[in-house]
Amino acid sequence: PASAERDGEGELVIGGVSAGDLVRTYGTPLQVLDEAEVRRRASATRAAFDAAAEAHGTTARVYYAGKALLNTTLVRWVMDEGLNVDVCTGGELEVALAAGADAGRLGFHGNNKSVAELERAVEAGVGTIVIDSEIEIERLAAIVARGGSSQRVMLRVNSGVHAETHDFLATAHEDQKFGTPLSAAPALVARIREIAGLEFAGLHCHIGSQIFGVAGFRESAARVLDLHQELLSGGEIPQLNLGGGFGIAYTRADTPEPIERLAEGIVSAVAEGCAARGIRIPALSFEPGRAIVGNAGVTLYEVGTLKDVALETGSRRYVSVDGGMSDNARPALYGAQYSARLASRAGQGDPVLVRVVGKHCESGDVVVDHEYLPADIVPGDLLAVPATGAYCAPLSSNYNHIPRPPIVAVNAGESRVIVRGESLHDLLARDAGIAR
Ligand code: LLP
Repeated sequence: PASAERDGEGELVIGGVSAGDLVRTYGTPLQVLDEAEVRRRASATRAAFDAAAEAHGTTARVYYAGKALLNTTLVRWVMDEGLNVDVCTGGELEVALAAGADAGRLGFHGNNKSVAELERAVEAGVGTIVIDSEIEIERLAAIVARGGSSQRVMLRVNSGVHAETHDFLATAHEDQKFGTPLSAAPALVARIREIAGLEFAGLHCHIGSQIFGVAGFRESAARVLDLHQELLSGGEIPQLNLGGGFGIAYTRADTPEPIERLAEGIVSAVAEGCAARGIRIPALSFEPGRAIVGNAGVTLYEVGTLKDVALETGSRRYVSVDGGMSDNARPALYGAQYSARLASRAGQGDPVLVRVVGKHCESGDVVVDHEYLPADIVPGDLLAVPATGAYCAPLSSNYNHIPRPPIVAVNAGESRVIVRGESLHDLLARDAGIAR
């Protein structure tokens, strides 16, 4: 995170707390979350979309996509900074409600919400439910009829655009599970509009994650605006939600645009699309997850073993740490690239090529595939892996019976546990074969 720096001894300091102090207090592996960085990114994102929307005669709402990382403390931080929160299961919904969130500021997603989840959302007063399929319309219709309640909904459509990192595919990405094909949407919207308890607020689309640039958003918005325009004949449509997916820097190779430029680029593309069609620009909403928390997280590990392996040219040092794919599955799942730094001290000697690996029984258990680290790293040193704030804890597992690490918040020189770590006792407690 922006606030990570080295002190006079060369030790890494995060949010004003040294890596050594954090590890002495909480152990390793440790997920550290920089509160000021989360708040800064949340408020900068909101301000950027507010400014862009105002410049184009509309308003914008930013939902934090809780799937990236979710706990009650984080929900309070982002809501304090003016964001709404998007959840995609009953479990995520309960976290947001437990945080004391105003349910009206929640959005609820998912391609297979159960009747129980939908009932809970309607009863709790969730602001917007994003309908994903025809079956869900009927489920919700029955729930609002029974309760005599009313519910604001959007319809998620599949714009056929798929974006991932620097490229996007403009065609032939309809073969996936999310959303309703554009061609099927008018009939579904007509059905929603028939149901007295459902208030149709607009269309929703989401084209992918870790996206750089506005081209994919522009293309997707153009297609969805065609549908939006067509549907205006059946009544007003106040909103349009263009999803999340804004990319962040994991390594020096990633160069995301500043959020202000991205926001202006996307909102102006929508504004131009509306002007070209002669329609009013709707209120916009967005759902970034990674861009809010990704760079605010750092994982600290302790080095356990070292091993040099000869390559055709030179050699590679395998540095094993005391976590791995159980706390960060992204390298194994997606080939995701991270960087690592020696955190306990500055280190000496020419940097050597290392691969940071975990302690799991799986060769794909890589934390950082290639990195240059000081030659004098020894067991007991601490390594920091930045940019682990998004999709690490949520995808964590107990593979090989490794307890999940705690999440500790740092801010202005103070630290505190916001999610307790698991103990071996927690893990054994679920084994019904152990006599108690
Ligand atoms: N809205 C919807 C409907 C989504 O499906 C997602 C992410 C988001 C918003 C937030 O996207 P973000 O701004 O965080 O990119 N586990 C993968 C990422 C999965 C993203 C799923 N949907 C990873 O670790 O890269």
